[in-house]
Amino acid sequence: MQTTIETAITMPRIGDQAPDFTAVTTTGKLTFSDYAKDSWVVMFSHPADFTPVCTTEMSAFAKEADWFAERGTKLMGLSIDSVHSHLAWVNNVREKTGVYMEFPIIADIDMKVSKLYGMLHPGESATAAVRAVFFIDPKGVIRLIMYYPMNVGRNMHEIKRALVALQTSDESKCAMPIDWRPGDKAIVPPPKTLREMDERIANTEYEKIDFYLAKKDI
Ligand code: BEZ
Repeated sequence: MQTTIETAITMPRIGDQAPDFTAVTTTGKLTFSDYAKDSWVVMFSHPADFTPVCTTEMSAFAKEADWFAERGTKLMGLSIDSVHSHLAWVNNVREKTGVYMEFPIIADIDMKVSKLYGMLHPGESATAAVRAVFFIDPKGVIRLIMYYPMNVGRNMHEIKRALVALQTSDESKCAMPIDWRPGDKAIVPPPKTLREMDERIANTEYEKIDFYLAKKDI
């Protein structure tokens, strides 16, 4: 696919301020900045209502809603379907499985929000949003983005792990190594000066590979 200027300039990136918008959702008309105020937000798109992989994913978010709320995190879904379709699908899933998607799902019928967030990847689908996940912090900054294709569902364990890793990194001022999980040691920021380097070399408290790779309990 040829990359157009439009797709190039409308892809939000990590570190960007999350674009604000007002949209029709399953919980009513909603302005993102009001909904997101002082909260983490995990915003995710799905290709279409009444499709099998999407149903498994959105049900998983609904089942984990309390877990996210306990971590100060609001959920928000999106697809390029009407609110009538969303309502019928939410009700169908509730009737068939008992799982109720109570978080707002944006009815992005004019693709306004999908375009704003770079959720449309024309090489994958011209008419449906890909499976995106945006992690947005309480300052409204996009901190992590995941994109999955139409035929592969996301991993809820990884979505939860990534959120906890971001929040723990902010709190501890440490970085998280490969495969970090809650309870694991975290990486202490590497020294920036010769003096800090010597202090780190002398440090006996941390688990050290070398002065630039040291871990501690958090
Ligand atoms: C699904 O969720 O199953 C799906 C949606 C769009 C394209 C392919 C699969």
